[in-house]
Amino acid sequence: MSNITKTIKDKRTDLNPIWIMRQAGRYLPEFREIRKNNTDFIKLCLNQELSAKITLQPLKRFELDAAIIFSDILMLPYGLGQKVEFKKNFGPLLGKLELNKISGLSENDFVKNIHQVYEAIKLVSSNELVKNKGMIGFVGAPWTLLVYMINKQSPKLKLVDNFFSDENLIKEIFKVLDKFLKFHIKHQVNNGAKIIQIFDSWAGLLKENDLSKYIYDPTLSLVEFTKSLDVPVICFPRGIKNYKNYCEIIKPDVICIDYEVDPSLIRREIKIPIQGGMDPKVLLTDKENIKKEAKRYLDIFKDHPYIFNLGHGILPETDPSMMDYLVKIVKDY
Ligand code: CP3
Repeated sequence: MSNITKTIKDKRTDLNPIWIMRQAGRYLPEFREIRKNNTDFIKLCLNQELSAKITLQPLKRFELDAAIIFSDILMLPYGLGQKVEFKKNFGPLLGKLELNKISGLSENDFVKNIHQVYEAIKLVSSNELVKNKGMIGFVGAPWTLLVYMINKQSPKLKLVDNFFSDENLIKEIFKVLDKFLKFHIKHQVNNGAKIIQIFDSWAGLLKENDLSKYIYDPTLSLVEFTKSLDVPVICFPRGIKNYKNYCEIIKPDVICIDYEVDPSLIRREIKIPIQGGMDPKVLLTDKENIKKEAKRYLDIFKDHPYIFNLGHGILPETDPSMMDYLVKIVKDY
């Protein structure tokens, strides 16, 4: 069992496991080198050899406790047949949503479109570098995927004006997402994923009254499905105001917190294993500050099952030597 799984299942508090969201990515020169010759991001995610290689890059450099497969939450709409592009200095851009086409899609058609993701997980799982380590698969939460599928681009602060206007469309998309997200989770697990993380990056856009319909109900369905496979599930509802309520309703195995919540409050209110929290911008400062901030989280969660991570993805401008320093601080704690 990996240190992460022991922390989750046995509630160990002495292992200090660490992995970092977006640990394989643009802050690494060896990633940028591959990316330079692979300008189409989706194609890169669909190249199982390269995707496996990128997944392992951070494990070669740092003493991390898990690999997270190099892929993207938007591989799901891509697998459904919606066009997805990543534009330089802009982010994701999605094409027209053709619900009638998507609704008729079979599991086989879907797998045909993105089977390379599963093959990459298989390749990584059999690599020596991940022996006794966590292998994390992931999906976007239904709400966050709905946002991208209807909004067609990152919402930043605001959704398009008529976002909620077609209730029936939203209901139908949720039905499709529930079905195919479960397929996506199942195939990742069958190919070696030992933990599933659900990213709800836009949870913070909703008002309290809308949470049941758009977040709690659809997420609960996926969490229960993942648990039924006997795989632990980590939920990251970024920006949700009330983490306590979320945990009571969703009951994930681990809750991942963002950097805007007070970790001491979380520690008092939440009983399940906790992950993350530290502001990724701390890694852009100096070693003294990194040590101070990392220790603040480690001290607060000293007697609680805690997986060290940041409160969102590592920033592309991060110096890899600062990441190295952070990992050492956590490991030596
Ligand atoms: O954590 C990891 O190392 C695994 C790989 C991973 C990526 N995306 C690779 C990626 C994971 C887990 C994701 C999740 C993801 N993708 C989320 C949820 C987490 C979050 O950041 O809130 C979201 C919202 C997306 C959608 C997405 N993908 C956006 C908005 C962008 C462009 C902006 C950005 O942050 O880079 C991407 C592109 C993307 N996904 C890159 C990587 C390494 C950058 C690609 C590049 O330009 O080289």
